[in-house]
Amino acid sequence: MSQLWLIFICLYLLAGCSEQQQGQAIPDMPRFAEQQLAKGRGIWMGTCRNCHLLGVSGAPAVTDSDAWAQRIGKGKPALYQSALNGIKGDDGNYRMPPRGGNGRLKDEEVRQAVDYMVAAVETLSSSN
Ligand code: HEC
Repeated sequence: MSQLWLIFICLYLLAGCSEQQQGQAIPDMPRFAEQQLAKGRGIWMGTCRNCHLLGVSGAPAVTDSDAWAQRIGKGKPALYQSALNGIKGDDGNYRMPPRGGNGRLKDEEVRQAVDYMVAAVETLSSSN
């Protein structure tokens, strides 16, 4: 019986830890009236959210304003290029897949998704 309790306590602690590692509540993604950003939101939700909402596998999360400040500092054209062409890691594998892995997205749509993500990062960081 005491062993069973030990297992429960361990599971409880483990659950607590993994929650803390994520370290953040799921953000409410902002909406914008501007048409290009509204379109970008739809694209972002469909393709980019998977990695960029919470920051899966090294992706900068939308809530991580520090990580984004550096990237935004490179300028929009550089961000468009990375989103279109992807970013490879040292092992030669893509970390950020070209077009977020969605080959059906047009260049214009990828850029709209980037614009939305940058606008969302700025909105989320100012509301905190
Ligand atoms: C499979 C996960 C994944 C998906 C899906 C994904 N990304 Fe990324 N993204 C990453 C990772 C990982 C990085 C960080 C790469 C690095 O710097 O090593 C990144 C970085 C970026 C950056 C910063 C680039 C830079 O130059 O600093 C932009 C912009 C970006 N992603 C846009 C997008 C857009 C737009 C989409 C959807 C169309 C998208 N991502 C979908 C994983 C993803």
